Amino acid sequence: MATIGELLKWASDALKQSQDVPQLEAQVLLAHVLDCSRSALYAWPEKEVSNTDTETFQSLIQRRLQHEPIAYLTGHKEFWSLDFEVTKDTLIPRADTELLIKVVMQTLDDNPHTVIDLGTGCGAIACTLAHLKPKWQVVGLDISKQAIQVAQKNAQKLNISNVEFLVSNWFESLPPKQYDAIVGNPPYIRGNDVHLIHGDLPFEPTIALTPGNTGFEAYEIILNACKPYLKDKGLVAFEHGFDQGAHLSELLAQAGFGDIETFQDLAGKDRVTIGHRL
Ligand SMILES: C[S@@+](CC[C@H](N)C(=O)[O-])C[C@H]1O[C@@H](n2cnc3c(N)ncnc32)[C@H](O)[C@@H]1O
Repeated sequence: MATIGELLKWASDALKQSQDVPQLEAQVLLAHVLDCSRSALYAWPEKEVSNTDTETFQSLIQRRLQHEPIAYLTGHKEFWSLDFEVTKDTLIPRADTELLIKVVMQTLDDNPHTVIDLGTGCGAIACTLAHLKPKWQVVGLDISKQAIQVAQKNAQKLNISNVEFLVSNWFESLPPKQYDAIVGNPPYIRGNDVHLIHGDLPFEPTIALTPGNTGFEAYEIILNACKPYLKDKGLVAFEHGFDQGAHLSELLAQAGFGDIETFQDLAGKDRVTIGHRL
């Protein structure tokens, strides 16, 4: 039987060809297989690993060598320090999206609010807002039934009760009601963007990544349809690509929104644009 140290060395060497942080990835995957912390791997490098666990680990390393994202291999991704289950039916939540949470939190006052999270995926945005603001009522919508099932499971595991989820093509299945805010991270990558066929992205659901040729199709549909669901002065807040802030701001203005503002991520790139219903 191989030891922890031997397996980590083998995996780091294999991953070196294609990954930037081979040692870390090897540790994360072995800790996942052995259901232990990474520090336990440091503590017992000489411990023998069963043949079954060794085979499971080797097969995960092979999948990683084909660029399958670590989050799909472990079935988990941390977002805003909360642990979310992810599957191939859900986008893997990105650290960039935490800016949307910050902007929504600083823009809405401390009163109880009702919020829609459009295209909720694994529920990262909806659950995080509901967790941070227990007096808010949040509803997460997604066209993917499988994604909604994952989001519901995440809310349950995180013990968040002020969030609900609904399978819906944008607003189509949402009962009529006006909300204080409509937020989301809709698909926005242009259909011909080369990133869609390289690296990790081909593993994620296409419907979560691209809405069509221009990258603005989902925003256009949402902005056309959202007003009946938004109170006067209600907030819309969307994540977008680094080069989409100016055009999205124009779309918001054309759709009758005011107080439009774009916020930058940690890299200084436009990432979130908000507006208020006039
Ligand atoms: C970029 S992902 C965002 C997922 C999640 N909110 C996050 O930030 O990690 C976009 C999501 O929009 C959903 N979506 C795409 N088209 C949709 C539609 N017509 N109606 C509702 N949801 C849609 C996808 O299934 C996907 O979960």
